[in-house]
Amino acid sequence: MARSEVAWKAPPVFLDRILGLFSVDIGIDLGTCNTLVAVRGQGIVLNEPSVVAVKKGTNQVLKNGEAVGWVAKEMLGKTPGSISAIRPLKDGVISDFEITEAMLSYFIRKVNGRGKIFGPRVVISVPSGITAVEKRAVFDSALRAGARQTYLIEEPVAAAIGAGLPFAEPTASMIVDIGGGTTEVAIMSLADIAVCESVRVAGDDMDEAIINHMKRTYNMMIGEQTAERVKIEIGSAAPLPQELTMEVRGRDMISGLPRKTTITSDEIREALQEPCTAIIEAVTRTLERAEPELAADLVENGIYMAGGGSLLRGLPSVIQKATGLPTRLADDPLTCVARGTCIYLEHIEEWKSTLENDVET
Ligand SMILES: Nc1ncnc2c1ncn2[C@@H]1O[C@H](COP(=O)(O)OP(=O)(O)O)[C@@H](O)[C@H]1O
Ligand SMILES: [Mg+2]
Repeated sequence: MARSEVAWKAPPVFLDRILGLFSVDIGIDLGTCNTLVAVRGQGIVLNEPSVVAVKKGTNQVLKNGEAVGWVAKEMLGKTPGSISAIRPLKDGVISDFEITEAMLSYFIRKVNGRGKIFGPRVVISVPSGITAVEKRAVFDSALRAGARQTYLIEEPVAAAIGAGLPFAEPTASMIVDIGGGTTEVAIMSLADIAVCESVRVAGDDMDEAIINHMKRTYNMMIGEQTAERVKIEIGSAAPLPQELTMEVRGRDMISGLPRKTTITSDEIREALQEPCTAIIEAVTRTLERAEPELAADLVENGIYMAGGGSLLRGLPSVIQKATGLPTRLADDPLTCVARGTCIYLEHIEEWKSTLENDVET
């Protein structure tokens, strides 16, 4: 399977170096929840939700193609009948090519519109479960959005690079990246993925588990944004030194009227058990598939966690308990992938021989 793909109508190297003086290098973490853009030499310059608002039943992006990111997220769940706010990568697959392209192109233009004459070189990290056709669509969108060269890299590779793991060395590194729509688990060595698994259970499923719990236990409907707040404020995977409580508001399913109630971290932990177990099982399954030598390295090197979902209280310790391997959070887990894409750009000459595969010749 292709680990990272590259294709371009390549100008000669010397010409490209000159062009580089007049353009920027951009790394994009195209996530199911959030898109981050890093510019080489500047760090992260954009961090917005992967959301697009369109006129219902069409692919027409509102506000002249600018209803993307924060502007669109504010509309989620509150849209009048004529508008839909779409997350085009929600489950780790591209549900709509045109909308994904509109989003990507908006972000690239926003970052590149800084007085540069030539298009940027762009590295985009994509969920590892997307198909070749979807990769191609992302790739073409970047070119159409004005990229001079585009490279695709699989998300766990970018996460491992961003986390500073020795992914090019002859030793095993393991990353668990829990996003909104997908959890990516990978064991890498010598700049390549040895074993990986992408499951469609991640942060969104935790929110959904909370919504279902509120319905079942309190006959109360809450929105996705409220559920996410509950998860972040009081959610956990393991008992807390001091259990927490929180007041939530929603709609009573029987009377139909707004009301509030107080919930506890114990009950939310119980509600989150199913998605947490599915994530832990993906981790143990991946470990079971690793070659013994790689598994042996991991006893020392342990597991690193990235992505917003890894911030759920107690999740690293639960994974550590289930696997017996030292498990820790990468530095700044939410920006790991974006930072990794930028580091990849710096080392592209060195790493692309092992990582790339032409998708276009
Ligand atoms: N402190 C937190 N605790 C638990 N979940 C969190 C926390 N912060 C963010 N998240 C969740 O992380 C997910 C987004 O993570 P991210 O890595 O940006 O996803 P993606 O890469 O798929 O875009 C969302 O489900 C969000 O609710
Ligand atoms: Mg991600």
